[in-house]
Amino acid sequence: MTTREFDIIVWGATGFTGRLVAEYLAAEYGVGDEVKWAVAGRSPEKLAAVMAEVGAAEAPRIVADAADPTSLDAMVRRAKVVLTTVGPYQKYGEPLVAACAAAGTDYVDLCGEPPFMRRMIDRYGEEARATGARVVHSCGFDSIPFDLGVYFVQKLFADAHGAPAPEVACRVLEMRGGMSGGTAASAVATLELAGADAAARDVMRDVYGLAPDATSSRPRQPNVRAPRYDADAGVWAAPFIMADINMRNVHRSNLLMEYAYGQDFKYSEMMAAPNAAAAYAIAGGLGFFGAGLALGPTRALLKNAILPKPGEGPSKRQREAGYFKALFIAKGASGETAKALVTGDRDPGYGSTSKMIAEAAACLALDLSGENNAGGVTTPAAAMGDALIERLTAHAGLTFDPA
Ligand SMILES: NC(=O)c1ccc[n+]([C@@H]2O[C@H](COP(=O)([O-])OP(=O)(O)OC[C@H]3O[C@@H](n4cnc5c(N)ncnc54)[C@H](OP(=O)(O)O)[C@@H]3O)[C@@H](O)[C@H]2O)c1
Repeated sequence: MTTREFDIIVWGATGFTGRLVAEYLAAEYGVGDEVKWAVAGRSPEKLAAVMAEVGAAEAPRIVADAADPTSLDAMVRRAKVVLTTVGPYQKYGEPLVAACAAAGTDYVDLCGEPPFMRRMIDRYGEEARATGARVVHSCGFDSIPFDLGVYFVQKLFADAHGAPAPEVACRVLEMRGGMSGGTAASAVATLELAGADAAARDVMRDVYGLAPDATSSRPRQPNVRAPRYDADAGVWAAPFIMADINMRNVHRSNLLMEYAYGQDFKYSEMMAAPNAAAAYAIAGGLGFFGAGLALGPTRALLKNAILPKPGEGPSKRQREAGYFKALFIAKGASGETAKALVTGDRDPGYGSTSKMIAEAAACLALDLSGENNAGGVTTPAAAMGDALIERLTAHAGLTFDPA
């Protein structure tokens, strides 16, 4: 790659999550120092005002609008990595992926919209491989802790037993945090798309929707919708709201790492509940919320009166009081296990997410930058693996430990 002016450009820095990313980069790395970063957005005035508010007034500012492809082409040629928090991605994201794939610029986002991701794989995967652009979706709470948690526990299991485990279970033991308007808008947009578009529906129905491979044996995956007692983890397990995204990303990682977890690999992701009644209550609540979003009239009510609006999200106090803890259990054919615990020290969706995506971008720009990168539409584990675990534990308040 020719020399680029910036390591990272944060596009969408005026939004709820983007401004947290800028605040984190300024506090952790300063401006124009070890990490050369800039911010970008569609409004120069708003960009200047927000950067002053978050202590990043000196960060260079770039104007780029999703509706103006020329501005995106110019922006992506100035950076090694573009970090985007401009979402919903299915609404605004494609022109940036196109520009990065064409220019050989690395890309990270917070996408939790599987139909959009599949579209990017199909449309830009080949070009990104040719130019060396690494397009890494889902660099926030979905799906970094889960994608890397599976990667980490599989290494523990292989070290102890000589080969990866055929099955991994993740149980989210504890989690505290809130939702932003951008995330609410993305969830609503995904359901609307799935209602209107058959290809999007297929991706949402198929746990292998992000791992297209005609030669794969596609083993039947565990049922993660029905509550049950999990003796390995010693907890009641209930459906987990992010599993639909994370499980697809984990299977994509397995495909991209040439089935490092095995062709018959099974993965289940659920949430721990204190007892059976609580597990059924979580399942019922999620079903109710999902049905509310799926039906036009209740979706309009949720969107207009209940869910947060774009630009809104949990307060600083809520972010600092938040955290998460997830247990990963790799289990062999004879019942042998390896266990790992992954934790984060802020609310998962924003406090931790803003640090995770910033470190993912820094990892690509500084630790894994080179002339011969294998490009493509990839995942955090496949693109960054150990290098990202190291960065997240050194800087971002995450822990990855044997349990
Ligand atoms: N995976 C995760 O764990 C996770 C966590 C948090 C967020 N997210 C995702 O991240 C995305 C952002 O969420 P958020 O709450 O930060 O959203 P938000 O507050 O609504 O911010 C959206 C940003 O996009 C910008 N934007 C909108 N239209 C644009 C255009 N035409 N050109 C350039 N910029 C444009 C906005 O700029 P203006 O300020 O000028 O309007 C704003 O900076 C969502 O898709 C959400 O789902 C994911």
